[in-house]
Amino acid sequence: MGRDVIIACDFDSAEKTFAFLDKFTGRKPFVKIGMELYYAEGPSIVREIKKRGHKIFLDLKLHDIPNTVKKSMAVLSHLDVDMCNLHAAGTIRMMEAAIEGLTREDGTRPLLIAVTQLTSTDEESMRRDLLIEKPIADVVMHYASNAKAAGLDGVVCSPLEAGKVHETCGKEFLTVTPGVRFADGDKGDQKRVMTPEEARKIGSDYIVVGRPITAAEDPVAAYERCVREFVG
Ligand code: C5P
Repeated sequence: MGRDVIIACDFDSAEKTFAFLDKFTGRKPFVKIGMELYYAEGPSIVREIKKRGHKIFLDLKLHDIPNTVKKSMAVLSHLDVDMCNLHAAGTIRMMEAAIEGLTREDGTRPLLIAVTQLTSTDEESMRRDLLIEKPIADVVMHYASNAKAAGLDGVVCSPLEAGKVHETCGKEFLTVTPGVRFADGDKGDQKRVMTPEEARKIGSDYIVVGRPITAAEDPVAAYERCVREFVG
């Protein structure tokens, strides 16, 4: 499994997404489709982007009872995406059910990645709203271990946590890390950021990059720079 840059296609329509993707005439980037675009356009957006030759991370973060997640994952597996995800908070049983649903008849399946604690959740809101008293770092590592125990392929985490996740769950366990910014770039609303080069050094397997590429004056050049710094 090679390192790769995943572009977060956080657009609200197919039109804007294709206007963006049309700029990439050479190499076809790995793209992430999130809830906004998926809910706006439905499964056809996945099929169309796939037909153009892109790999797809479908970021829908499933979290429901095991049976519902299993059946929903079965639907997603037929969309032929390369990676999808769920919330580890749904428990090991839910994650096992997800793997079952995702596995196609021929035994293949997309990569399945768990969200541990969202980076928008801090220790204070975890304690106050969720009654979770442990330090957030322990919770993240525990959820990562649960994901591994359930047979998942990795977790979405901050690049700052990627090294520790590999220590806890092994080198083969994938870390997919958003919160990436160029050294000379705008941080936007991301607080704890890393450059693509730092993310590589710390051992991220995939970086998810949105605005530093999508809002750049020359998105293709920004993407190429990201690949150069992260993949080498
Ligand atoms: O534009 P930017 O590079 O900040 O985009 C990061 C992408 O990664 C967005 O799609 C965002 O929703 C997603 N993400 C994140 N932090 C997380 C999980 C997902 O920024 N903890």
